[in-house]
Amino acid sequence: MEYLLNEKKTEIVFQNDFRIAFQKETKKVFLIDKKVYQLFENELGKIIDGASFLIYASEEKKSLKTIEQIYRFLGENNVNRSSIIIGIGGGITTDITAFAASTYKRGCRLILIPTTFLGMIDAAIGGKTAVNFEGIKNSIGTFYPAEKVFIIPKYLTKLPEKEIKNGLIECIKIALIKPSKLYDILISNKGKITSEILKLAIDLKLDICEKDLEDKNERKHLNLGHTFAHILESISNYKISHGTAVSLGLRAAAKMSLQSGYIDDANYKKIIYVLDYFKLPDKIPEKYKKRIRENGLEILLQDKKATSRINVVFFNGFQSVFIKEIIEPNIILEALDNFI
Ligand code: GLY
Repeated sequence: MEYLLNEKKTEIVFQNDFRIAFQKETKKVFLIDKKVYQLFENELGKIIDGASFLIYASEEKKSLKTIEQIYRFLGENNVNRSSIIIGIGGGITTDITAFAASTYKRGCRLILIPTTFLGMIDAAIGGKTAVNFEGIKNSIGTFYPAEKVFIIPKYLTKLPEKEIKNGLIECIKIALIKPSKLYDILISNKGKITSEILKLAIDLKLDICEKDLEDKNERKHLNLGHTFAHILESISNYKISHGTAVSLGLRAAAKMSLQSGYIDDANYKKIIYVLDYFKLPDKIPEKYKKRIRENGLEILLQDKKATSRINVVFFNGFQSVFIKEIIEPNIILEALDNFI
């Protein structure tokens, strides 16, 4: 599968095993999630044939300090613009690797090998790179698509149930944004992740990124459920996971769309059906609702996506969404209070 992202070709390569042939003559270095390295040491031996830097993947380490350490590692290994930097791991690792590759010497060659479901269908594809800064997630970054992304579904076999669920929720989100058979296939596979599901989800996202790499128009649709999710993650000090927060955000967006008359009851039921089918959360504890009432507005206005206005993605059909500017932010907080 090949895509053109701002005239830069990005190729998605499906592999059944870990034997990946990178060009022999080119200098390569590897940035690898330490946990992934420990889990797959034998198999990774077939891939790694260059210096490697292990990343302790956490939100705290997704920082400019880690980037400085990586720049030093790249310098020590004489990396230049024609060298290939290869990132292997989940979303934190691929975001960090891509940011370092995009800025070191004004841009080195980049290959990503995502090892989580979420990484395969979202974080590692579409060219967003990021680190956190002063407590704000992903506030520093670039758009820099990898020239190749290798998808090795075998990595999913050792993924904890929680991680599969996080990926599944983003997969459901993309299945609700645009017409495709992904919605029906997710349900008929009863949660089993197949290469067909991965391919469909990747294709839906990259089709959007081809039209709007820099997140100015249609790519914003990928934020479906995320305005609500961000508030839920923040007020719970990240005790509500991103996946759970997005699934609750999808429910809130669907209910607000119904109440505003953008969708009818039949479409609302179809949207909710898939969330119920996978038994995704539909409520938050009262203590969090209290915090939303007390601090929600402050969090909402801090949101990195909020400029002077707040744009929320609503449904205007089944597998159809649009962006609406919200003038009165309290209605978002009220939706969280009343709908979940
Ligand atoms: N994860 C949303 C995006 O790539 O735009």
